[in-house]
Amino acid sequence: MSIVIRNGTLVSTTGASPADILVVGERVAAVASPESGLADAWESSADRAIDARGRYVLPGGIDAHTHLEMPFGGTFSSDTFETGTTAAAWGGTTTIIDFAVQPKGGSLLTTLERWQEKAAGKAVIDYGFHMIVSDVNDATLKEMDGCIDAGVKSFKMFMAYPGVFYATDGEILRAMHRARETGATIMMHAENGIAIDQLVAQALAAGHTDPVHHGLTRPAALEGEATHRAITLASVTGAPLYIVHLSAAEALAEVTAARDRGQNVFAETCPQYLFLSLDDLGRPGFEGAKYVASPPLRPKEHQAELWRGLRTNDLSMVSTDHCPFCFKEQKELGRGDFSKIPNGIPGIEHRMDLLHQGVVRGEISLPRWVEISSTTPARMFGLYPRKGTVAPGSDADIVVYDPTARQTISAKTHHMNVDYSAYEGMEITGRVETVLSRGQVVVDAGEFHGRAGHGSFLAREFCQYLV
Ligand code: URP
Ligand code: ZN
Ligand code: ZN
Repeated sequence: MSIVIRNGTLVSTTGASPADILVVGERVAAVASPESGLADAWESSADRAIDARGRYVLPGGIDAHTHLEMPFGGTFSSDTFETGTTAAAWGGTTTIIDFAVQPKGGSLLTTLERWQEKAAGKAVIDYGFHMIVSDVNDATLKEMDGCIDAGVKSFKMFMAYPGVFYATDGEILRAMHRARETGATIMMHAENGIAIDQLVAQALAAGHTDPVHHGLTRPAALEGEATHRAITLASVTGAPLYIVHLSAAEALAEVTAARDRGQNVFAETCPQYLFLSLDDLGRPGFEGAKYVASPPLRPKEHQAELWRGLRTNDLSMVSTDHCPFCFKEQKELGRGDFSKIPNGIPGIEHRMDLLHQGVVRGEISLPRWVEISSTTPARMFGLYPRKGTVAPGSDADIVVYDPTARQTISAKTHHMNVDYSAYEGMEITGRVETVLSRGQVVVDAGEFHGRAGHGSFLAREFCQYLV
């Protein structure tokens, strides 16, 4: 099977220029300037030609933080590997990295097998895994090696959620030492969970049960403090550190200072922190439950700082932290007690479109859009140049994007298996038109052509930003 994509504007981290692309089988075979005339010859023998005039041609998006079928808060996130990756593909994401979750007392390698079983035969696009370490002990630390050999080279730990995923500073230190020895990356959920639990207990005792108190009991200062502590522990051990779902200016200041000192500290933010705010958590009645995630949505003032961080590379990239729970049946578990609302916001389908609004509004440049949504995630998590670029030899994960189309986000039209949209009614400039996953057309002109099982597991290399 060969496909020619002609007349489009190829966008990469270094710029945007007219280019024709030849795809043969699963890979990009050639990229040429239109003046070369090569595309005429390619087209005469190709199975299909796609006219991308007036369109951007991008490397497929990489969402490095998703939770599909995740056990959490007494329930499971509502997207399966099939529905979640289908929605991702609709939105121009062609690779995800999901989190396998070690149960307390469980083995990392058994956990990895379990997540491999969940995804195999179901995923529509390629996928890798990070490992959530919820139980640090001698056996777990040894098993990190087995994960690394299997292509899982990043381990998430939690300073939040005491009694669930929480790790003490000592446990974090031990895991970081192991990461330093092996080259693995420690990913950190940086919120001071011990202090937060006290604030939550006080709020509930005072009769404050509404969703907005989820935000009010998790102040930005406690994200800043935990981020500082995680960076300190990483500097003591020499381990590379990646802060997940950074939401607050206080936390960003810590990351910026560490990077200025030359420490291997990286951070992502998420679309919800760029476009939604504490006001959404405070929506009337129980509606704020739709917006409960941790860290919580922040007052609007934080958004300008996050965009600044994305421009200056203090924030390296944007992932969704897609963790969908249905409003009617699952968020409902916390009616009358905000601390029981399952934590998570859906978003796997809209990351590319939402970040494109950053280009439209002048917050980031066009090349930076591609960098934070595809190329940096590929390099951060050891997938480059197979993923994250449109270049000869790379996987033909390609998005043809119409930058002038208009659309309105709605749960009525989205493809995620969740009964609401956090961005309901938001008007978007731009739309994904065609998506190729390893040379297969999976989305085209409003139709889905993907297949469960097409996606394959990606054994990843170490972070490619380390020297
Ligand atoms: O609220 C969130 N973020 N849910 C997913 C789990 C996590 O901490 O990433
Ligand atoms: Zn987290
Ligand atoms: Zn998460």
